[in-house]
Amino acid sequence: MNKSKIVIHASTYCLSMPLIQSEHKTEASNTERVTTGIPGLDQIISGGFPKGSITLVSGPPGSGKSILCGQYLYKGIEEGDRCLFLTLDKKVEGLLAQTDELGMNFQPAIDKGQIKFLFLNINKKLIYETMTNEILSGDYERIVLDSITPISEMPIYIKNHEITDNINIIDPEESTDKTNFPIRRLHLHYIMNALETSNCTSLVTSELPPNSTNLSRDGFSEFLADAVIILNYDSTMDRRKLSVMKMRSTKHTLKPQDIEIGYGGLKIV
Ligand SMILES: Nc1ncnc2c1ncn2[C@@H]1O[C@H](COP(=O)(O)OP(=O)(O)OP(=O)(O)O)[C@@H](O)[C@H]1O
Ligand SMILES: [Mg+2]
Repeated sequence: MNKSKIVIHASTYCLSMPLIQSEHKTEASNTERVTTGIPGLDQIISGGFPKGSITLVSGPPGSGKSILCGQYLYKGIEEGDRCLFLTLDKKVEGLLAQTDELGMNFQPAIDKGQIKFLFLNINKKLIYETMTNEILSGDYERIVLDSITPISEMPIYIKNHEITDNINIIDPEESTDKTNFPIRRLHLHYIMNALETSNCTSLVTSELPPNSTNLSRDGFSEFLADAVIILNYDSTMDRRKLSVMKMRSTKHTLKPQDIEIGYGGLKIV
């Protein structure tokens, strides 16, 4: 496998990790599967998410992204997997209150250390270090990142126009030199690479504006992810839908599936 190195320096941290080129991923014929926890979903994707894959879950506000992610980890707990829920949108308490109302009580697993919920404040400088250290700790089989949108929208500033093996990231306030320029996609590469390197089976959410036909908010993460699931609703018909738009090593329908959210979470009906 051709691996190059990406070294990121900032005033507060210095991280180094392998950059795995997406074209070098192998298409295994007998792909191991990881159960989704969503009733009806495993049946339409050959038994579950491909082991070690990254699935992008995109949808407008209230479409069920966080609930689906909660169910995925709740199923993981049942199967003895160690789980990590990284949340950038909501404080952990709000998340737990919603899942608890739907019959998913995470507290016993939190107390046992089988699952960790971590709120990441996008305004904190050490967010990358905290996030990647946790992802690459080797402590988890299932990871959720909810959501990637605030990360993808935060510009970072680098010192050189050329992206070479060594990239110098600097603080925005230092970017007075005309040669400094903000880049956005590096964030996504960086996070996706960390998830891929971890060998965990991951879900990453992306917030879509209502009625959007895009597969992600940033227009790029769908290419980096191994799979894309779109959640949507038709408010006039009071209907919810789930569509599998992409999943490597998997034969699947593109047809939108009717779903419901109720006790237990989200299910295909
Ligand atoms: N107890 C419940 N019973 C039925 N439906 C519920 C219940 N709790 C939440 N919902 C539905 O789920 C929606 C919230 O789902 P979720 O938080 O997963 O959405 P989301 O896609 O993550 O939204 P956002 O982008 O705002 O984070 C609510 O708007 C509501 O429609
Ligand atoms: Mg959410």
